[in-house]
Amino acid sequence: MHLGPKADIMRLMRDYEPYYTEDGSIGLYSYADKDVYHSKFGALTEAWEKFVIPAEKTLNNNAKILDICYGIGYNTKALMSFIINKNINFIKKKNFFEKIKYKKFKFNNGIVSIDKNNIISAQDNVSIDSNNKIQIDCLDINEELVKLSPFFKTVKTPYEIYSQIIPEIFDCFESYYKFRELFAGTVSRFAPKNRDEIKELLDLKFKNMHIDKEYKVNSFVNYIIINKLCEYYGKDYPEKCIKNILTESQNRCFFDKALIKYARFNQLWGYDNTYKSSLSTFLHNIYYDHLSKRNKNIDFKAAERLFNLNFYIEDARKSILKLNDAYNCIFLDAFTYTKAPQLWTVEFIAELYKRLAPGGILLTYSNSALVRNTLLENNFYVGKIYNSKNNKFIGTIASNDKSAIEYPLDSYEIGLCGTKAGIPYHDPNLSFDNNDIIELREYEFRHSKLASSSKYMKTRRRDENNEL
Ligand SMILES: C[S@@+](CC[C@H](N)C(=O)[O-])C[C@H]1O[C@@H](n2cnc3c(N)ncnc32)[C@H](O)[C@@H]1O
Repeated sequence: MHLGPKADIMRLMRDYEPYYTEDGSIGLYSYADKDVYHSKFGALTEAWEKFVIPAEKTLNNNAKILDICYGIGYNTKALMSFIINKNINFIKKKNFFEKIKYKKFKFNNGIVSIDKNNIISAQDNVSIDSNNKIQIDCLDINEELVKLSPFFKTVKTPYEIYSQIIPEIFDCFESYYKFRELFAGTVSRFAPKNRDEIKELLDLKFKNMHIDKEYKVNSFVNYIIINKLCEYYGKDYPEKCIKNILTESQNRCFFDKALIKYARFNQLWGYDNTYKSSLSTFLHNIYYDHLSKRNKNIDFKAAERLFNLNFYIEDARKSILKLNDAYNCIFLDAFTYTKAPQLWTVEFIAELYKRLAPGGILLTYSNSALVRNTLLENNFYVGKIYNSKNNKFIGTIASNDKSAIEYPLDSYEIGLCGTKAGIPYHDPNLSFDNNDIIELREYEFRHSKLASSSKYMKTRRRDENNEL
């Protein structure tokens, strides 16, 4: 039964609770899944460190990227931002625009590409060719989240968050650091309604709450995504239900006003008009006012032309069968396998393997023996994602090419994959529901003669001690 827009909103708002993660980016908690969508340590930081930075080597100006579980789009946004920022110096170059102006290069309704082989180290080798775009295919089952994705303010500073929660005493912000406890007590008395928020503020690690400069999302990114979604949905985007969510007062602090106006304009005046007269007065007021000074010199259209962004909004197990491209990089950001095994099965991962370009990589945050064994069973070379900032391994990388794996699994980790913990999920026709997939594995687990992971760990420890 369809409950109608009002009920949809209620459901949506009941289902998700936005919160600030520790880098100031917004995360979502899902009541239905009883799980967070984003790491509490930093939604945007995670996108950069587990997906974008490890993907860097696979990026060239024809690269094809598959973002499985797009959600509100952090991984795609961070990737687009990375690509735009790496191209900024080039796009900004005066002589580049002069060359275009005097038609020394054909502008062929195409994109601005920087270097045939490597967009990162691009210097003078300019080519403008409509075939050179970075393709990003975004898959997610949740239409509302995808529709809302460009409106989320990507990062807020503690200062901004603070000013929203207790605007009356905004000026005391500086002293907050000095007189933390005292301050909180006083504020609770003056603003009893805000007691919970204040408590939450105290719990926030304020000083850690900043995003690394380079991780900030370029202001163009959300506009590019809105344009693509307008193209995809036509007049239905953003429809009433989404508009209501965007304008509800309790959600206001999480969404970007300028982007809401821009989307409305797009809808009222037609996507095509907006596209063609890209620098109309209205757009100038809306998004150019909104852009940082640093970005003002950059051509939005040039940035937009770098991408061929596509959305597939249904179960990723269906979408994957429709995709015939060979991807240089696949982001797999599904919920943990215990919650959502559908996207961690041998059969689903086999489909990903088939769609990987030679030397392509698959990246995931998961370090589990189950996920790694599922990759191994599909003939992937499997390794670890290394984060030099904290000298830790933070996820898993897999490839069809051994040389793409800088930090392969060690013998202990490979051994762990061969224990009961590594028994993978199966979904023979890519159509089982989560419970069936879990039950199937439990059956295999109960009847397996493999060692348990705890026994394996004990034996390994004993062997190591004997060697000493
Ligand atoms: C951990 S969140 C991903 C967060 C996301 N990368 C972001 O930046 O917001 C998991 C996502 O998986 C999606 N999802 C769950 N089951 C799915 C399925 N079978 N096919 C496609 N997407 C699915 C959910 O809608 C949710 O957005």
